[in-house]
Amino acid sequence: MGETISSLQGKSFLAEIDFTAEELLYFLDLAADLKAKKKNGIPHRYLEGKNIALLFEKTSTRTRCAFTVACTDLGAHPEYLGKGDIQLGKKESVEDTAKVLGRMFDGIEFRGFAHKTVRSLAENSGVPVWNGLTDMWHPTQTLADLLTIREHIGHLRNVKLVYVGDGRNNIANSLLVGGSIVGMEVRICAPKSLWPAQEVIYLAQKFSDRVMVTSSIDEAVAGTDVIYTDVWVSMGEEDKFAERIELLSPYQVNMQMIKKTGNDDVIFLHCLPAFHDLETMYGKEIYEKHGLREMEVTDEVFRSKHSKVFEQAENRLHTIKAVLAATLGNME
Ligand code: CP
Ligand code: NVA
Repeated sequence: MGETISSLQGKSFLAEIDFTAEELLYFLDLAADLKAKKKNGIPHRYLEGKNIALLFEKTSTRTRCAFTVACTDLGAHPEYLGKGDIQLGKKESVEDTAKVLGRMFDGIEFRGFAHKTVRSLAENSGVPVWNGLTDMWHPTQTLADLLTIREHIGHLRNVKLVYVGDGRNNIANSLLVGGSIVGMEVRICAPKSLWPAQEVIYLAQKFSDRVMVTSSIDEAVAGTDVIYTDVWVSMGEEDKFAERIELLSPYQVNMQMIKKTGNDDVIFLHCLPAFHDLETMYGKEIYEKHGLREMEVTDEVFRSKHSKVFEQAENRLHTIKAVLAATLGNME
């Protein structure tokens, strides 16, 4: 694979809805190719000499490391700019910051709160901008999820994926829309107060007539190929633990839920980080206050044969690399 699709060159990667099924699948094919190249020690320095800004308003392990390693493997220089490092939004507007960064960097990654920030960076910088997570969407995660599903199931069309938990967060939104674009049957299973916004459901329904949003676990998980969950409390909502525990405890992914699928080969995915034991500060605090040893997924499921979460985490690298190469790379 040495060519890119011309529609992607110079384009920002802000949300799945901005891309066709063909383009999303192209990113996956390119990611698979780059993964094989990396494993076989074949150089793929398509971004030789480029400089990339990595802006993080929120913390990150996978996204930051994936962008950093992807840049390095592609021959580019990544520059990490954390919350306290630049003026963004405090002393200088997003628009002005974008104009400055665009004159120095060849591309910008942004992780943060408001989706309008990443949009403004894209509108004003004049260089490709990649969304490393906002409150609304997490599209580079979706690509890793789709690649992992395709590696295990062999295809995406008609694959049934149930997302269980906080059905209106960035991961749920992205899976609902991104999965529907590529022809999957996406089901969101959550208490009614945590259902996706109607406008997000409408976006998915443009691509699929099999979108399901339900509070019934039995209805959602029957015959599914993939069960996906995420944290009950996303970054920036840390005051909501008590309320979410109350609402979402019945939606914990446990062996009983896995059995209800009736599919012994069902795969379990989670974008990570996950609360599946007491080995974290938050995990310990929740145990002391609420008596829960595990939250959105049990340790048993997390460590079971169904769980592909670490392959999924590794695929963040290969898929992010594909996005960088396709939108900014010289792949002649
Ligand atoms: N899944 C994910 O985005 O992980 P990080 O928050 O560690 O980047
Ligand atoms: N919904 C989570 C995803 C983390 C990768 C959050 O926004 O914190």
